[in-house]
Amino acid sequence: MNIEKMTRRQLIGLAAVATAAAVTDWDDASRTVGRVEAATMKHGGSGGGKAEQVAPGVWRIRFGKPEKLTPLSFRTAPIHKEGFSSLTPCDQPPFSLDDITFRTTGRGCAVTLPMTTEERIFGFGLNTKLFDKTDRRVFLRPSDDPEGSLGDSHAPVPFYVSTEGYGVYMDTARYASFYSGNVAPTAVRGATGAGGGPADNTQDLYRQRTLSAKTMLVDVPSAEGVDVYIFGGPAMGDAVCRYNLFSGGGAPPPLWGLGVAYRGKGDFSAADSLKLAQTLRDEKMPCDIWGVEPGWQTKTYSCSFVWNTGKFPNPDGFIREMRGLGYRTSFWEHAFTHSSSPIHKDLEPFSGDYRVWDGLVPDFAGKSARTIFGRYQDKVLYAKGADSVKLDECDNQPDSATPWSFPEASSFPSGLDGEQYHSLIGALYQQTMWEPLRRRNKRTWGLVRNAHALAAPLPYVVYSDSYDHRCYVRGLVNAGFSGLLWTPEVRDAGSPEELCRRIGTVIFSPYAMVNAWYIALPPWIQVNRDKNNAGEPMPEQASTTDAVRSLFQLRMSLLPYLYSAFHSYAETGTPPTRALVMDWPDDKASHAVDDQFLCGPSLMVAPMFTGQTNRDVYLPPGLWYDYWTGEKLAGGRKIEGVSKPLDQVPLYVRDNTLLPLAEPIEHVTSDTRFALIVRVYGDTPTPVTLYADDGETYDYEHGALNRVTLSWNGGKGEIVTKGGYTGPERYEVVRWTPMG
Ligand code: GAL
Repeated sequence: MNIEKMTRRQLIGLAAVATAAAVTDWDDASRTVGRVEAATMKHGGSGGGKAEQVAPGVWRIRFGKPEKLTPLSFRTAPIHKEGFSSLTPCDQPPFSLDDITFRTTGRGCAVTLPMTTEERIFGFGLNTKLFDKTDRRVFLRPSDDPEGSLGDSHAPVPFYVSTEGYGVYMDTARYASFYSGNVAPTAVRGATGAGGGPADNTQDLYRQRTLSAKTMLVDVPSAEGVDVYIFGGPAMGDAVCRYNLFSGGGAPPPLWGLGVAYRGKGDFSAADSLKLAQTLRDEKMPCDIWGVEPGWQTKTYSCSFVWNTGKFPNPDGFIREMRGLGYRTSFWEHAFTHSSSPIHKDLEPFSGDYRVWDGLVPDFAGKSARTIFGRYQDKVLYAKGADSVKLDECDNQPDSATPWSFPEASSFPSGLDGEQYHSLIGALYQQTMWEPLRRRNKRTWGLVRNAHALAAPLPYVVYSDSYDHRCYVRGLVNAGFSGLLWTPEVRDAGSPEELCRRIGTVIFSPYAMVNAWYIALPPWIQVNRDKNNAGEPMPEQASTTDAVRSLFQLRMSLLPYLYSAFHSYAETGTPPTRALVMDWPDDKASHAVDDQFLCGPSLMVAPMFTGQTNRDVYLPPGLWYDYWTGEKLAGGRKIEGVSKPLDQVPLYVRDNTLLPLAEPIEHVTSDTRFALIVRVYGDTPTPVTLYADDGETYDYEHGALNRVTLSWNGGKGEIVTKGGYTGPERYEVVRWTPMG
């Protein structure tokens, strides 16, 4: 087989096949596909091999004897080799690799990496409480609580980036600790900052001292070695792009995946779902995805994966009718398999030695469990027309005295133990459920509650049961550092104001979802859970419905822009949502901003929170425009007292942007044609490229894709279309509007 000539989809398939066979037949596709000239370097630590350049600007050093089963041995896709050409070249490692040290310890191994006293560290996955990770310990354990203060989350990722313009990935599924800057080797400890004298209170006694030298210490339990990957910049954003491309490039969504999603109440029947789905259409509420929560199965905790025909007498007919109303469907499940499930017996030998909710824990690291599980799900869901799934409960509760999930001491036929499997189950489950759809040449956009390293190519968005709005925004900010997608989903609310403010955030995320799994009426009819379930609309229902509709329409008008941002994610690794510091690493004021985020290349969102009559907004250096008023604003400063009504969100456009805004549609169809108004900001706007394809298959990988480039030259708009897509035209520019 000629790997060089294969398309990316085939390569992804290949990586998945290698993954399925990983246990007996391990082959890291990255080394076959992505290898470039090896560079030989020394390094100062013991037990390390030569540094090898494994992709442009990416170096690997093997220390000691790494474990066989790591995130990389289960990678989803090969390195996205071509994507690196879009980045600024980086020929030299970002720091001397000689300065990395390694030792084995009684509990595993430890790696130290150099740090300057100036640099700031970000990343480590989806903890929603922490932002800047400098001078603290980060402990990476999968958890259903992303608001802990140590770094636990739905998606802990052993990858960090620095404002000095580099990234570091440790290839381990262990619960590693990173002591980020607040430790120094013995030799420099004498230089510790002042303040070591007696104190008369414990606060002073134990307060953090400023060190005159810093180190990143990584403690990896159980392993006798680890592969360390260093990602060059030159800037922080480039290091993130390199990591995402190394992971395989970002996942391109189907066009419908970027529409609005609504999940009905957990016990809804087919008739309940269809009725409410029709009501949304009657209310002209944009919606593309209909989520069916547990009620479709006969058993749910654990799962039977058998249709509950009492509630869903005709599953195929239900999916067809939903489709007729213009909805794509998404079905809830988790992996723990109930004894009444038709696959229980077959799965038993390929499962872990502990049960969860008295169900099997399938070992998705092995080919057998993947095949049995995947084929069955294909028959039960995808063959009937289901478009996507929500993969629940695959995280853990590390701090609970009564955790529901499997213990770390579990063992699995693949050789993984419970600790490793907690880190990997999310990715392996996603691969298992994605594979049948790829075979059907169907793109998907799903939900998942656990992810880990190298997640960029997986078309699943992480969500949570936690609900703090500020933490949800921080999740969007953090996701971008770690190759993750996150949805700050909306459920019930304390007031119509809170509902609108939350919706004002979720519409700028990768999955614009209302998860009404415990309320019968849409939250814009009644925000209060009890009153909602009692069928009592709130007095403000009409105004709230209007405000929510406007916000959803804003989302729909951004669909072409977002689709384009996700194509960049796939091709260049640029995260669609990200922190300000990623684009302005040299601007110290941006380092601290964790309540605003960038969405796509040109928009900055500053959500308003409940109870705020106004808020301060930090504008990074450069010129900005208020999206709503067109007012020109000088950046590099904080603007105070910003306020927007409930149907708006403080939103800013970067100078020299061409912003294509579509006439909002209610949902995507195969022949959707967006009528665009192109707003022209600044004197020399950068051309923008829109992507036109069928929006739902992988045919774009075989050339069925047009790049539609809009540019503004000498006061006139120009459109150039290139590519081999011959389906219905996607875009029609109806107007160019100079914004001053
Ligand atoms: C939770 C999940 C919720 C909802 C619920 C249904 O675990 O996070 O979004 O799906 O299960 O039982």
